[in-house]
Amino acid sequence: MHIKTLSLHNFRNYENEVLAFDPGVNIICGGNGMGKTNALEGIYYFSQGRGFRGSSREALRCGCQEGRIDLTFHSGERDFDGQIKFEGKNKKIFLNEIELKKTSQLIGKFVCVLFTPDEMNLVKGAPEVRRRFIDSSIIPLRPAYLSALMRYNLILRQKSILLRGEDYKLLPVFNQQLAEIGSRIIHVRRSYIEGVKDLAAAVQMDISGGRERLEIGYAASVRPENTREETAASFLKKLEEMEESEKENKICFVGPHRDDISFKINGRSARSYASQGQQRSIVLCLKSAQTELIQRETGESPVMLLDDVMSELDRFRRDFLREKISGKQVIITCTEMENSNIKEFNNIIKIENGKVVV
Ligand SMILES: Nc1ncnc2c1ncn2[C@@H]1O[C@H](COP(=O)(O)OP(=O)(O)O)[C@@H](O)[C@H]1O
Ligand SMILES: [Mg+2]
Repeated sequence: MHIKTLSLHNFRNYENEVLAFDPGVNIICGGNGMGKTNALEGIYYFSQGRGFRGSSREALRCGCQEGRIDLTFHSGERDFDGQIKFEGKNKKIFLNEIELKKTSQLIGKFVCVLFTPDEMNLVKGAPEVRRRFIDSSIIPLRPAYLSALMRYNLILRQKSILLRGEDYKLLPVFNQQLAEIGSRIIHVRRSYIEGVKDLAAAVQMDISGGRERLEIGYAASVRPENTREETAASFLKKLEEMEESEKENKICFVGPHRDDISFKINGRSARSYASQGQQRSIVLCLKSAQTELIQRETGESPVMLLDDVMSELDRFRRDFLREKISGKQVIITCTEMENSNIKEFNNIIKIENGKVVV
């Protein structure tokens, strides 16, 4: 899988610009605030139908009413031309000039794995960071998962509104639906973690020279049972048990929106004990496991988007990452061109204030 061109029109700090990419390694360089991450976000839009920071409305160039991003890419032996149009707060998605009715129809066509400095907080950050991580890892592999998440969040929002009012008539209906859809989410998350944990552990063993055993666990707010139906039943039971407390506090206490993932190194919680370097290793291991899973399930290598992470890694982890990305299309952003690490790469795109200068 590889991308060819990215056109940005009134997107973030870009007015009208085209970036062209090689199938191998590409470097986007420029000073701080010039638009490097914005360009990666433009590409990322085609993997999930949304960006990785803020809403679509914020993605539209300040003061503009409409904007557009175009991505031409090669995937599954076919060429695609994707287009996302922003109109006010609305967004329309086109693939080969046909408008898609649902974002989930886009999923799986263009697949990428993103590394950002923010994710370096994965281990010690808030649970929300880990939920976002696991969801965005699952979505490219299971388009229906995105629909389930959206539906779950919609019902959750409606339930929150209801809890803030006086009339609880619809509460059992919402709880029933949350248990039904939520149990699907729980089962997909569990099976994803099952799929990824041994792969990631093997990599961690490798980069630590055989010293570090990584364990990844799913700390689900409702423990998954053997079957999805059983999980839905215990979910509903838990919701009923918590009903009074939820009404009193006006908060939805139970469900996958409260899930977490745990990491242990040699049996100790990484959250409390892992060093900075170990935390970075865990993220690298997870990403590398994710890449492998995608390759296994789709038969193609995803495009790797590395935002400013090279400078965050020490030499050893950099070499490791370099080995993992060889043979794939990679797009790396960085600030310092003097950095000897990147001189060897051929396609260098220099960005200044939202314009391509080289
Ligand atoms: N919707 C927008 N309209 C115009 N400019 C924007 C918008 N969103 C972000 N920017 C600008 O983009 C710049 C940040 O770009 P970014 O890609 O994060 O920089 P970097 O090159 O450091 O990765 C900032 O100057 C910010 O003000
Ligand atoms: Mg940046």
